[in-house]
Amino acid sequence: MPTIKSLVQDAVLRLRLSGVEGPRRDAELIVGHVLGLERASVIARGDDPVEPAAAARIEALAAERAGRRPMAQILGRREFWSLNFKVTEATLDPRPDTETLVEAVLAVIGLRRWQALRILDLGTGTGCILAALLTECPAAKGVGVDRSAAAAAVARENMSALELGGRATIVEGDWCADLSGPFDVIVSNPPYIPEADMARLAPEVRLFEPRAALTPGGDGLGAYRLIIGQVGAVAAPGAIVGFEVGIGQSEAVAALMVAAGLGPVTIRPDLAGIGRAVLGRAPG
Ligand SMILES: C[S@@+](CC[C@H](N)C(=O)[O-])C[C@H]1O[C@@H](n2cnc3c(N)ncnc32)[C@H](O)[C@@H]1O
Repeated sequence: MPTIKSLVQDAVLRLRLSGVEGPRRDAELIVGHVLGLERASVIARGDDPVEPAAAARIEALAAERAGRRPMAQILGRREFWSLNFKVTEATLDPRPDTETLVEAVLAVIGLRRWQALRILDLGTGTGCILAALLTECPAAKGVGVDRSAAAAAVARENMSALELGGRATIVEGDWCADLSGPFDVIVSNPPYIPEADMARLAPEVRLFEPRAALTPGGDGLGAYRLIIGQVGAVAAPGAIVGFEVGIGQSEAVAALMVAAGLGPVTIRPDLAGIGRAVLGRAPG
């Protein structure tokens, strides 16, 4: 019968041959996922035998990872803002970079976090941004919108699992088209990768994450143009409007916001020093 250690070693080899970065970490996580063990136990219990059915499941998941399926889809989960989110093929895998937007918005909200704020998250995906903000703003209520019915269903599940279902409404829709405001805080991490950059993405992203979550086509700014043109209709006077942006897009998005009367704007860098969140305010 194979052991935990031998299954890890086989998986590491397989992942390394496929060019997966950090193959040992992923192999140990896959083995732990199937056996219901923390990674530390996978390492500590290397000599334990593994039943054939579990070994076969480990080999199947290692094969999927070798085919470059992202770990979040294999494990079905991803942590964001210290909260646990279900992730599927219909949703973007929440990125650490996106926590920059949450931090930036919370910094502007300040002590208003105790008020009954109305929060709108456009392109909610797993619901990670909205859930993080609702967790930090305990009296707030929020609406998350996604054009993908499958993503909206995942966001609903996540809100329920995080016990935020009573304060979060998830709707299927096209940006602000079917919404009635007003909202005090409007956030979005829209698809922003320029069409020309799509071919250069890692296989995990290019082959497995939903295209509609990655790119609006063209120069990558199309979703910002649409949303910025629409938010005025649903924003409360003085509402905070915040976007995540891609590398090199902060100045262009800031200019679009200023032109639409959402200035003055501030740009917040991520941990790598890249302008990652652009924040402005609705008039009033
Ligand atoms: C970059 S993902 C962000 C997901 C999530 N907010 C996050 O930060 O991880 C963009 C999301 O926008 C959604 N989306 C794309 N076009 C849309 C539209 N016209 N209206 C509403 N949502 C849209 C996609 O389905 C996707 O879930």
